[in-house]
Amino acid sequence: MNEGLIERKLDHIKICLEKDVKSRKSTLFECVHLIHNALPELNLDSIDTSTLFLNHKFSVPILIDAMVGGSPTSLKINENLALAAEEFGIGMVVGSQRAGIYSPSLAETYSIVRKRAPNIFLASNIGAVQLLKGFGKEEAKKCIDMINANAFVIHLNPLQEAIQVGGEPHYEGVINKIYELITQINVPVIVKEVGFGISKEVAIKLEMAGVSAINVSGLGGTSWSAVEYYRALALEDKEKSELGQIFWDWGIPTAVSLIETRKAVKIPIIASGGIRTGLDIAKSLVLGANLIGMALPLLKHAAISKESLISFLRKIVLELKTVMFAVGCNNIKTMKGVRYVITGELAEWLEQ
Ligand SMILES: Cc1cc2nc3c(=O)[nH]c(=O)nc-3n(C[C@H](O)[C@H](O)[C@H](O)COP(=O)(O)O)c2cc1C
Repeated sequence: MNEGLIERKLDHIKICLEKDVKSRKSTLFECVHLIHNALPELNLDSIDTSTLFLNHKFSVPILIDAMVGGSPTSLKINENLALAAEEFGIGMVVGSQRAGIYSPSLAETYSIVRKRAPNIFLASNIGAVQLLKGFGKEEAKKCIDMINANAFVIHLNPLQEAIQVGGEPHYEGVINKIYELITQINVPVIVKEVGFGISKEVAIKLEMAGVSAINVSGLGGTSWSAVEYYRALALEDKEKSELGQIFWDWGIPTAVSLIETRKAVKIPIIASGGIRTGLDIAKSLVLGANLIGMALPLLKHAAISKESLISFLRKIVLELKTVMFAVGCNNIKTMKGVRYVITGELAEWLEQ
């Protein structure tokens, strides 16, 4: 079973690094306009970007979102991601730990993260489908122990499972399994999508089940329909490749998902899916996100070198601080009070 799984993980990394897997629809953050402040009454160098998330201090509200682990190539990538996370004081979620659980020899491709980043907020990760296939508290505990995790992330990816060659589109009973696991483990559980977004209805169900935070991971960045399209094409599966094309731009744009989820629930929210600049981060904070997740851009830099990743993160932090200066906020908390205007397609979505 694991051989197929490792190959698939390698295919995913290769496709994400080499092909254009971007959704052709946007996050709709371009429809959010922050009001400029010509009298900020603060100095750029005094801006504090630190924040608390689930009682853990972040120097910048950025989470390296779940990506790799379980294949030999992911060892170096995870090591670079971890070194940068430790240096910047940001958090990280490892890629799905299924391979590490069933092949202990692969556990190092995940545990390297904790070795290189002893102080960061680090979270475990597994697909919701696994919960229906016998993955329970023992397995969750192994995942947590593997990386000394501060939280446990479950990903919802029903559409990806439906399009993926060899996918497992079985979701009946998932919410009960999530509830069960929450009552059995002693770290907070976060639930995320993988780029199709979380609706307010789903957010309410997750909050009622006892989830500690939601990562909306909406449309506008990496399209998993696109990734599975390329993989199906290479495997000469015409039906699945056509399915991937049809659903290339499916989902709830990240800005919509963030706004409606923020209105629907009180628990912390992570905005991810197509976050590409410090300006996207700032807009997410203003719209009520507690933390921001980024995946593919960080993978691309980590695959080159640790230095490449660090210089990209430095650029993102400078962009964030510059927006904070331009709206007159010297800390993350006050970003929630920044005035903004919503126009265009985002306004239309929100009217419905
Ligand atoms: C190469 C790659 C592998 C991923 N693997 C996982 C995974 O194992 N578990 C998961 O929850 N999300 C996974 N994701 C999804 C991301 O965490 C994120 O939700 C999605 O890519 C949208 O963010 P982005 O537009 O910044 O890439 C993966 C993303 C990439 C690019």
